[in-house]
Amino acid sequence: MTQRTLVLLKPDTVRRGLVGEVLGRFEAKGLTLVALELRTIDGAQADRHYAEHVERDFYPPLRDFVTSGPLVALVLEGDEAVEVVRAINGATDGRKAAPGTVRGDHSLSNRENLVHGSDSPESAEREIAIWFPGL
Ligand code: CMP
Repeated sequence: MTQRTLVLLKPDTVRRGLVGEVLGRFEAKGLTLVALELRTIDGAQADRHYAEHVERDFYPPLRDFVTSGPLVALVLEGDEAVEVVRAINGATDGRKAAPGTVRGDHSLSNRENLVHGSDSPESAEREIAIWFPGL
């Protein structure tokens, strides 16, 4: 089934010059780019996006990290796009992510893990409304 998913190329991806490398993986897979924007977000936007995590111990440093510089927000569309993107991204912890995935190839961190992908079609709908309200 055709789905849309919200992807963030987090500030570490921009700082490390990996935007093209990561974006190229999604394009090469055949996913369609529906929206894309370079944006520096404030804490309120981080709180909206990570609403389910704001009470967690790891959230304050995560909030600092995602607001630390520009990130790239995008929406991708394609067959089973939510799951396909999560497979391309790899496990959350870069130290455990399989080689061949974005995180497995480029991240050694559980926090600075380069990418975010919506975890379900319902999350995708909620997150797309936050980042690209007109879509
Ligand atoms: P993401 O897919 O954007 O979803 C939540 C984010 O929180 C996750 O990627 C990581 O960046 C971060 N995260 C999740 N678990 C931890 C953790 N245990 N310690 C630090 N950061 C975490």
